[in-house]
Amino acid sequence: LAKSPQEFFMSRVALVVGFLAIGVAAAVAQNTSAIEQRQNLMKEMGSNTRAVSGMMRGQPFDLAQVQTALQTFSRDAQKAPSLFPEDSKTGAKTEALPIIWEKKSEFEGIFAKLDQDAKAALAAIKDEATFKSEMPKVLQNCGTCHKTFRQG
Ligand code: HEC
Repeated sequence: LAKSPQEFFMSRVALVVGFLAIGVAAAVAQNTSAIEQRQNLMKEMGSNTRAVSGMMRGQPFDLAQVQTALQTFSRDAQKAPSLFPEDSKTGAKTEALPIIWEKKSEFEGIFAKLDQDAKAALAAIKDEATFKSEMPKVLQNCGTCHKTFRQG
């Protein structure tokens, strides 16, 4: 059965619309993935923080666990800036505030400071006393950023 010119045209339109829909779906999936990845990264920092803040409140001091937490903070702080691309303001449930993309250098500066402070603490912490004096300097970066750049 031969197609009329109109039918041929409509099948072409359907094809193009189909490709556009696939392109849009891919772009949205990418947003979602950056949001998920940064939330997983934050959760990893959160569980490491819980472990060390227990030690701040008198649970037995464990140098190896402190060092693991500091290495995690340093690695995650280096990785984090790439997980806030322009197209990830929306696309999934997120607590990231729009001000992140207005003050990008200030935002990324706090991640850089977290990385530096974690490395400095890794070198300085040798025992429970140095842990108690150095660790708060590292963790205050979490609150500094959340206060301005995270909802809630
Ligand atoms: C430079 C900014 C910045 C720094 C530094 C930072 N965070 Fe976050 N954090 C955010 C933002 C933005 C979100 C919201 C992410 C989203 O929902 O898309 C967040 C979310 C979180 C969450 C919730 C994750 C979830 O979705 O369940 C936890 C937990 C968290 N951060 C812990 C930490 C800890 C612990 C530190 C320090 C060791 C830290 N963060 C350092 C910006 C930061």
